[in-house]
Amino acid sequence: MGRQKNVRSMGKGEYIVKIFLDTADIETIRELGEMGLVDGITTNPTLIAKTGRKFDVVIKEICALVKGPVNAEITATDAAGICEEAHQIREWGEQIVIKIPMNREGLKAVWKLSKEGIPTTVTLIFSVPQAILAAKAGARYLCPFVGRLDDISSEGTSLLYDITTVLGQYPEWDCEVMAASIRHPLHVVEAARAGVDIITIPPKVIDQMLLHPLTDRGITQFLKDAQLCYTK
Ligand code: G3P
Repeated sequence: MGRQKNVRSMGKGEYIVKIFLDTADIETIRELGEMGLVDGITTNPTLIAKTGRKFDVVIKEICALVKGPVNAEITATDAAGICEEAHQIREWGEQIVIKIPMNREGLKAVWKLSKEGIPTTVTLIFSVPQAILAAKAGARYLCPFVGRLDDISSEGTSLLYDITTVLGQYPEWDCEVMAASIRHPLHVVEAARAGVDIITIPPKVIDQMLLHPLTDRGITQFLKDAQLCYTK
């Protein structure tokens, strides 16, 4: 089947993809929030470690800054431990989404938490079968990693099209596809073309998306010409 347009978000009033920032850096979140680019946040242990600060301190600060979903990843490896950790983390902010790796114990925890109304993101998804199981277990967000598939010479963005095509067959299935492991602007373009609901973008990729040499050249020329005719 060809790449089917994602009909799932049509009618929800969301006609442009949502952007989450893939960072735990407070100042960056604050600045990009001033451009209206922060619909939510994704973190993981690697991004938290980069801050050099404690997990709970960082998540609480982000929750004070951001209105949208804030993804905080658990580290327990058994379902009971994941659920216990999830309940503790959820006390730090009502917008927190619990990020859980794609495995057997993770899906048991997702299923249990979904029945309690606690939103979860299933992360480290690398195949359509994994996405189907995660959605079936009640995940609120499915998080396929694009860049890491590219890293092993597999086409990461094809996975996005395949997942949105499958989920597009079941428009009422209440979960969203969040493209992650985004390494450059063309990943963002392809993810949007694939019709994902959310793209979680590292700040450095946002910077790359903003810049174009012809824009800079045009601004310079306009400002130069304005000197001739715009009254101060
Ligand atoms: O949200 C997941 C993302 O942070 C992973 O990115 O570049 O380490 O694959 P990367």
